Amino acid sequence: MTNLAASPLQATPTNALQGVIRAPGDKSISHRALILAALSAGRSHIKGLLTADDVTHTIDALCQCGVAITADGKGDCVVEGVGVVGLSEPSDVINLGNSGTAARLLMGVVAGHPMEAIFTGDESLRSRPMDRVVAPLVQMGASVKTARHGGLPVLISGAMPPLPITYRLPVPSAQVKSAIFLAGLSAPGKTTVIESLPTRDHTENLLQAFGAEITVEKSDGESHITLVGQPELKAQDVIVPGDPSSAAFPLVAALITPDSKVVVRGIGMNERRTGLFQCLREMGADLEIDPVRSACGEPVADLTARTSTLKAIEVPAGRAPRMIDEYPILAAAAACADGATVMRGLSELRIKESDRLTAIARGLSNCGVQALMHGDTLTVIGVGSDNVPKGGGDIVTQGDHRIAMAFLTLGLAGKKPVTVDDGSVITSSYPGFVDDMTLLGAAIADLT
Ligand code: S3P
Repeated sequence: MTNLAASPLQATPTNALQGVIRAPGDKSISHRALILAALSAGRSHIKGLLTADDVTHTIDALCQCGVAITADGKGDCVVEGVGVVGLSEPSDVINLGNSGTAARLLMGVVAGHPMEAIFTGDESLRSRPMDRVVAPLVQMGASVKTARHGGLPVLISGAMPPLPITYRLPVPSAQVKSAIFLAGLSAPGKTTVIESLPTRDHTENLLQAFGAEITVEKSDGESHITLVGQPELKAQDVIVPGDPSSAAFPLVAALITPDSKVVVRGIGMNERRTGLFQCLREMGADLEIDPVRSACGEPVADLTARTSTLKAIEVPAGRAPRMIDEYPILAAAAACADGATVMRGLSELRIKESDRLTAIARGLSNCGVQALMHGDTLTVIGVGSDNVPKGGGDIVTQGDHRIAMAFLTLGLAGKKPVTVDDGSVITSSYPGFVDDMTLLGAAIADLT
């Protein structure tokens, strides 16, 4: 595998990306499958688990809490479950690296256990807000002390048992919803989360697969999702589908480079994750979707992308939760389109692995593409189908894997190479990115 620890990376304009690759395992589902397998009785087998730093942090954290996990580093993993409240108190601080999902979900898990844990992370993760998770967990009876800025490190002491609550999400966040349900697993009664915009529902799907009772009621345009506490979770065999958020990069690369055709196999197509594909099709992308099977109760498809003439669209705010991690790569596609693409409702982008709104706008402008920010709206003025972006930009990733991959992708379609200052961050979610892109014919060089 390419040594991504050696950064920076440079993408050189490339024609004719061709080939077939397999999408890496879904990051969100990988975290959840590991956690629920750990909280079940018996031995679970997970196949297709994402092998990437974020998920490794979840494995290590669970091991620190007494769970035996064997992972072969290729996606096969065996978890010896300890039961819903069977974790043991970690003897040291748990470091979750760059992973916001690991941090927030595991805070929910600890909130439902009679134990204390201290979580920390890298610089990017320590700067991210945790109060959105802390507030409901405190309502459930956990005691939480955060760093002064409201983020990591946090010291969390679980409630025994936690109180079942009804909580209306103030922000559309699957991480917050999941943390509440994970704490609610040991609550004596029903825990309800009310969401007005549908966020990814992998936790609900997997909870059901592991034997918990979950119901969803719609009322006044909101969903009331209810978990019955203290279920007996039973070990399962789980197959993790491929990650649409990672597949997005090679697919968009094919759309914006001449004479290209790329197939990405095995992509999870949960409709709460496919907002980007909807946008690309609205933009006129030649994107073929071939449903192949289901995994984890979720549809899976092979996607084929061919070079396309893209036109600008307006992306409504309500679509954001269905594509929240895909705005950097949508912006790369928009940079090559005819017209001005307007993306609304992006306030959550400011608190991802970096301030993505600013990182996208700065990066595009470094590559000769006009991008305007007005509040939480981003407008990208595409260079048009008769032109290509100037490129030549130096991109500061600020520890953000998706910013790195989005701008390396854009670099394939410009006049001059694009350089990202730190390729090592890509190992958070898609360690095989450079290898996969190289296999397809992309020129991405390690400059160290
Ligand atoms: C995730 C949910 C999203 C997403 C993150 C993964 C998850 O965050 O940005 O990369 O696995 O639940 P929010 O739920 O905070 O929007």
